[in-house]
Amino acid sequence: MINSSKGREHWANRVGFILAAAGSAVGLGNIWRFPYMTGEHGGAAFIVIYLIAILLIGYPLVVNETILGRASQKSPVGAFKALAPNSPWWLVGALGVFTGFVILSYYIVVAGWSFAYIYKVIIATTTQGIDHAQVFKGHITSVWEPIIWQAVFMLFTISIIASGVVNGIQRWSTILMPILFLLLIVLIIRGISLPGAGAGLTYYLKPDFSEVTGRTLLGAISQAFFSLSLGMGVFITYGSYLKRKDEIPVSTATIVGLDTIVALLAGFAIFPAVFALGFAPGAGPGLVFITLPAVFAQMPFGLIFGVLFFVLLGIAALTSAISLLEVVSAWLIDEKGWERKKAAVLMGLVIFVVGIPASLGYSVFSDFSFPGLKTDLLDTYDWFANSIFLPLGGLLSAIFVGYVWGAKKAVNEANRGSSLFTIGKVWVFLIRYVVPVMIVVIMAAGIYDTFIK
Ligand code: PHE
Repeated sequence: MINSSKGREHWANRVGFILAAAGSAVGLGNIWRFPYMTGEHGGAAFIVIYLIAILLIGYPLVVNETILGRASQKSPVGAFKALAPNSPWWLVGALGVFTGFVILSYYIVVAGWSFAYIYKVIIATTTQGIDHAQVFKGHITSVWEPIIWQAVFMLFTISIIASGVVNGIQRWSTILMPILFLLLIVLIIRGISLPGAGAGLTYYLKPDFSEVTGRTLLGAISQAFFSLSLGMGVFITYGSYLKRKDEIPVSTATIVGLDTIVALLAGFAIFPAVFALGFAPGAGPGLVFITLPAVFAQMPFGLIFGVLFFVLLGIAALTSAISLLEVVSAWLIDEKGWERKKAAVLMGLVIFVVGIPASLGYSVFSDFSFPGLKTDLLDTYDWFANSIFLPLGGLLSAIFVGYVWGAKKAVNEANRGSSLFTIGKVWVFLIRYVVPVMIVVIMAAGIYDTFIK
């Protein structure tokens, strides 16, 4: 039986939606990807561009997707089918489900590293003279160990999704998100109180725009999409678990605010410590796995803070991974009438298998390098998902609402149930003109700089 809106599970309360969606947004993107992207793209200048992208593209699109979900009471494929029957627009939903598939497949690889590092960091911080780059390399180039951790992480994810929207997603987000905030605050206090932390703060807060290229711009919007879980239907899906009278503008602004604050705070937890202990910020994806353990090894009580850090990373990853698996499972539940448990288990297993090559990209498939990208397999999954599929999904859903379904309908839908502030002309202008133009221009510039220049 296809789920009707009446039989649909809904968030138990407003905080449930906010914490679940913030849990999706806050993840490896904030704590692992944002700091190394900032480090690779020159520090504060990248942050300024990122913040502009969040304001002009991120928030408007989060509202956009949430409306589509609440109005249709369906996950992405069904949402487009319900709002534009007998048209090919459902393919945008399908693109979202596919993207979720790809992202989750490599997301669990990095999440698995984080789980492994909860104990690896103990060895790394207590062994004299250990080479941290070697420890990390040793871990990711061993064939089985990362795959086993990847499997463990996937089992956690599957079991939460199998338990349902309120008992699974909402319950675990409500438990884990406050712990995450607390851990982050502890780490920041430790970082900025180290002697010499000031150099890191300067690097992090003083913009230098001379290094900004098309690649930087594409890097910043890909980061905005990834970090906000945007462009693949997480907000359509989570929005579909809102009741028709639930508020949207303020809740979504809170979610975007929380995500941005956590990313910025992660920088405060990392860069001051990195600089205080004389390390370089541009270590790339290895920043939190190589540079940070080295930092912890040299700081008083580094062992404890090291373990706390990787627990934090694991928690953040888990509340994001569940949203990715939820989008994929909800497609089968809503469209094909599957039972939730069956959908979660089967999709979880298939995605796990698809992710194995990304993990083996450091051992068995280490010769692989995508022309132009010059990166390993995992980074290639990441690049296509975040620099192409997510912005494309965002672009198409903006065009859909702005020109096909109708901006007027969208504004009415957005404002139903809202009190504190409402969405209006500015939002419509952003969705119809600013968002599409910026995405197209930045994607073109970034692709040109990456492959052609
Ligand atoms: N937003 C998550 C993070 O920052 C990743 C994610 C992307 C989750 C897309 C869902 C959808 O880690």
